[in-house]
Amino acid sequence: MKVAIIGTGYVGLTTGVCLAEMGHDIICIDKIKSKIEAFEKGECPIYDPGLPELVVSNYREKRLLFTTNLKEGIKNAELIFICVGTPAKANGETDLTYIKQAVKEIKEYLDHYAVVVQKSTVPVQTAQWIKQQLIEKADVAVNPEFLREGTSVQDFFNPDRIVIGTDSARANGLLTELYKPLNTPIIHTDLNSAEIIKNASNSFLAMKISYANLVAKLCDKAKADVHTVMAGVGMDKRIGKEFLDAGIGYGGSCFPKDLESFEATFKQHNVDASLLDGVRKINTEQVEYVLSLVEKTLDVKDKVITVLGLAFKPNTDDVRMSQSIVLIKKLQAKGAKVKAYDPKAIENAKKELENVEFFEDKYLALKGADLVVVATNWPEFKTMDLYKIKEQTNKVIDGRNIFDPERMKGLGFDYKCVGRNK
Ligand code: UDX
Repeated sequence: MKVAIIGTGYVGLTTGVCLAEMGHDIICIDKIKSKIEAFEKGECPIYDPGLPELVVSNYREKRLLFTTNLKEGIKNAELIFICVGTPAKANGETDLTYIKQAVKEIKEYLDHYAVVVQKSTVPVQTAQWIKQQLIEKADVAVNPEFLREGTSVQDFFNPDRIVIGTDSARANGLLTELYKPLNTPIIHTDLNSAEIIKNASNSFLAMKISYANLVAKLCDKAKADVHTVMAGVGMDKRIGKEFLDAGIGYGGSCFPKDLESFEATFKQHNVDASLLDGVRKINTEQVEYVLSLVEKTLDVKDKVITVLGLAFKPNTDDVRMSQSIVLIKKLQAKGAKVKAYDPKAIENAKKELENVEFFEDKYLALKGADLVVVATNWPEFKTMDLYKIKEQTNKVIDGRNIFDPERMKGLGFDYKCVGRNK
């Protein structure tokens, strides 16, 4: 099929590249010229395992094209995916400027039948508005994306479900055909329900994490182990074992923003959503909790603190709303000297932080440290040479629960983590 993708952020680029890999003819449209030029040179501005290789191979095979010109880009498209950014406004509501701009241009330039597919995460009734704008021009569908950064390609090809929300049989038929090779259960629904499926899923996952973090604090007080507790809880199939890892809290470009946006939607519809308010509050407090563990261990003023991990999670260079960045700023405000290491995210972190000494080597970052904090659960931290850490300092705060508390204490570490401090 001929598909145009508007917006080449994580969702747009992954969707375009993976659909090209499935054999479709894809054209990715983005207003940022430098981005498009980079793609055409075979560069991929996003670090995500497997993604750069697929950009290069599909571009070479001419199944994947790039343009800054929306009019040209949508010329022959049967499907037009809107994957533009939906940032948050100061009050937590979603800023739909880019969506509106894209719809305005589609309305102006579309000269044939097409299905316009809303893929960006938006508040309910956005697609309904798009439909009104494009009436008699195009059919509209909602097809939310559930991929995670760091595993975006794998998630695209192995989704748990595909959601197709539309009241057009033709649009439904085209999208069903598009995704057929993935052999995944499809839920067919209306526009509004499809949008809420995405909002409610993200908020539910954020709620699971905050729940684990809440229980972790009780575990610390009551001398229990949150790791074992959540393993026991998650073995109930109705609950599920994923997204129950306690730690420094969730970050990233989705959960914090999407939760606030969902809260704003409840408010607009006069439905009390204090449950979600609690989820957000727990997450904000979580970084304070890790900071309190640091302060219980030493007075941070003028001390050298090495922070391992800057990305909001492993396998990405993304530092947006990273709890690690929040923690570093708090440590600095209390007078600490911060050294930091991350395998991929240093360049992005440099844009967010000042007066931090960055290292390309984790062991060099440890030199002279008075205390080490693990802030991102990169797999390479789990297998670190603990003796090398011990040579520098015995004080380790594990904000991601990657080490075994018994072993750390056995090795003589002054070790604290989240919910396992028996
Ligand atoms: C999320 C959703 O998972 C995805 O379906 C949606 O499309 C986009 O938002 P992403 O933001 O890429 O994906 O990351 P995710 O893997 O969900 O992690 C989000 C945050 O939660 C990270 O900071 C991570 O470290 C944290 N997390 C995750 C925990 O603290 N504990 C957990 O058990 C799981």
